[in-house]
Amino acid sequence: MARKLARGGYGVIAMARRETGELQSAIREVEAGGSGSLRFVAFDLGEIDAIPGLVKGLRKEFGSLYGLVNNAGQGTDGVLATMHNSRIENLVRLNTLSPIVLTKYVVRSMLADGEGRIVNIASIMGFAGFSGLSVYGATKASLIGFTRSLAREVGRVGITVNAVAPGFIATDMTSSLGGAERDRIAGRSALRRLADAEDVAGAVEFLLGPAARNITGTVMTVDAGSTA
Ligand SMILES: NC(=O)c1ccc[n+]([C@@H]2O[C@H](COP(=O)([O-])OP(=O)(O)OC[C@H]3O[C@@H](n4cnc5c(N)ncnc54)[C@H](OP(=O)(O)O)[C@@H]3O)[C@@H](O)[C@H]2O)c1
Repeated sequence: MARKLARGGYGVIAMARRETGELQSAIREVEAGGSGSLRFVAFDLGEIDAIPGLVKGLRKEFGSLYGLVNNAGQGTDGVLATMHNSRIENLVRLNTLSPIVLTKYVVRSMLADGEGRIVNIASIMGFAGFSGLSVYGATKASLIGFTRSLAREVGRVGITVNAVAPGFIATDMTSSLGGAERDRIAGRSALRRLADAEDVAGAVEFLLGPAARNITGTVMTVDAGSTA
């Protein structure tokens, strides 16, 4: 997603706790390509109290913030009856509380600029059920509710707020799922295949771009028709 947006001409700040080799090579690729830019900032988004200072620092270093993609998340699964409370709390902190608080501070800067785009990465688990994902599903459903009401709240100043709901995507988060299970998910989807990270990145790029200027408060499902 970061690579695609930078290639599309955006000045991208990618944030995670650790810089991966994949991101480093994307940064080199973007530098060589010469259109947008891609920078990495290390930050633990579970550190809620540090978020105001983070946004202040980002504004100081990079200037005004046009878009925010709330993508970082955990995919911890577990049967609710036996799931440890600390795991439940961590999931809600990173997947729900953190993007809400981050958006709060970023939207202030967008309000001052009179424009902005917010894209929340939810999941089809926010509206479809899967055993073992009740807490994860709750966090993703919360992002959808957040998206719709915030769109109403900030629309009058020209800020759009949308969600993208991916289906199963092969990433580190889902690496433990075996080939048979993947085939089963693909076989049940309308297109008989799986969506991939490139598809999600394409949806995000669209929602950030000029063609989506009159789209707000929506959820774009990217799941190869898994929930169609
Ligand atoms: N893969 C799927 O099938 C799927 C489906 C629907 C929705 N999604 C959603 O898509 C988003 C991306 O998921 P993914 O599949 O790409 O997962 P991933 O491969 O596990 O990547 C998660 C990203 O979030 C970052 N992150 C995790 N904890 C963080 C923290 N405390 N502070 C800052 N960054 C943190 C990770 O970097 P560090 O670990 O270095 O911090 C990593 O860059 C998530 O919101 C997920 O819920 C995924």
